[in-house]
Amino acid sequence: MAKPKEMTKADAEAYEARLLADEAKYCSFGDTVHYVNPPKIFAGCEGSYIYDLEGVPYLDLQMWYSAVNFGYSNPRLNDVLKNQVDTLPQTASQYLHPTKIELAKTIAEDMKKKFGSDGRVHFNVGGSQCIEDSLKLVRNATGGKSLMFAFEGGYHGRTLGASAITSSYRYRRRYGHFGERAMFMPFPYPFRRPKGMTVEEYGEHCVNEFARLFETEYNGVWDPKTNEAEYAAFYIEPLQGTGGYVVPPRNFFKGIKKVLDQFGILLVVDEIQMGFYRTGKLWSIEHFGVKPDVLVFAKALTNGLNPLGGLWAREELINPKLFPPGSTHSTFASNPLGTALGLEVLRMTSETDYESMVMAKGAHFLEGLKDLQKRHPEIGDVDGLGLALRAEICQADGFTPNRELLDRMVDIGLSGDLDWQGKKTGLVLDVGGYYKNVITLAPSLLITGEDIDKAISLLDQLLSRAKATTA
Ligand SMILES: Cc1ncc(COP(=O)(O)O)c(C=O)c1O
Repeated sequence: MAKPKEMTKADAEAYEARLLADEAKYCSFGDTVHYVNPPKIFAGCEGSYIYDLEGVPYLDLQMWYSAVNFGYSNPRLNDVLKNQVDTLPQTASQYLHPTKIELAKTIAEDMKKKFGSDGRVHFNVGGSQCIEDSLKLVRNATGGKSLMFAFEGGYHGRTLGASAITSSYRYRRRYGHFGERAMFMPFPYPFRRPKGMTVEEYGEHCVNEFARLFETEYNGVWDPKTNEAEYAAFYIEPLQGTGGYVVPPRNFFKGIKKVLDQFGILLVVDEIQMGFYRTGKLWSIEHFGVKPDVLVFAKALTNGLNPLGGLWAREELINPKLFPPGSTHSTFASNPLGTALGLEVLRMTSETDYESMVMAKGAHFLEGLKDLQKRHPEIGDVDGLGLALRAEICQADGFTPNRELLDRMVDIGLSGDLDWQGKKTGLVLDVGGYYKNVITLAPSLLITGEDIDKAISLLDQLLSRAKATTA
């Protein structure tokens, strides 16, 4: 059983205090984020729940930033991992093993079916590392061009190359530049769009901002004599993750892609957070009617049980003549525990109609959020696609961002003393958005209808308590 052995409150508190003191002394803080003080310690997990040292359950509405789409301790996926441990748990990346090849084939065939392009799959570990590999691939395929477009509010990871195309200067500030930073273009943010524009007009407006760069050579990105752009690729998240689960207008990427095609700029789609049915489709870009040149994935590929990630690229960009052996290599790339899990995730999701299931659960959740919004004017916006949902926390005017209120909600949720039918319960929330005032909701795709209702009820309780403790 994935629940921890429960301790008495006093024992749990003493144990926690010892662990935190040791963490303060022996652990680097540079590899974590410490959103709450003191940091939370968990000891078990199952389904949609994660348990603290005392055994108190926390309904998780974040699922490890969408790495655990298929629920904690998913029995089917855990069994595959255990079986792989008993058969071929480890082998050097220079050797082949069946699940690596089968997984690559499954993804490549699916891409061909959906987008009509032949291509290959390349593995590595960790989302950021896969972004690094995509940067090498794109630079190589464009004759060494090192400049990229990306979006304001975009997040692609914190390795040196990935943070150069991630919008926050905060992630670069101390470390100098390694590779040129991207040119960051505005991403349509429907809730905060300029007055008098429809959402679609706003999408077109953002496309025009981008297209304007190519109107004349004096805008700095394009040589009309050769019709060549100085930029190799545009890195996009179809829905922004860290940026606050912003859903752009459906016509937006079509407009962007038209410009890219005109000037030979590649489209790299980062599906690291929104992939694997988070939005109701295997890849979130499928909602927007454009073809990727490169698609990067990680996180839920293994339900968070292994750091395997990878990328798919069009054959013209990744064929072995152009991108030869050793272009990237890492000891744990295509490790068999990860590839066995990835293959099972794709088998599992092809056996059930995940699309209908996720869209139905998402609609149920969104309806609950809209209901909640009627009772709490501080919820300025709710929106979502599938089970990637957002609730924007504001002042009572329903518009001015209220980061303090959301921070209090997160603290109360993690204190584990909400009440659910007479029992102590916690709620795990993630904070995102340009103003750090958005609850970015990524529940398990297998969340029950009952737990969706419970989530809404706990959010109601949480908001009421947070508002009551307003300074
Ligand atoms: C969209 C996106 N890209 C890249 C990354 C980086 O992945 P990792 O944290 O596995 O390095 C993340 C992580 O949150 C992400 O959400």
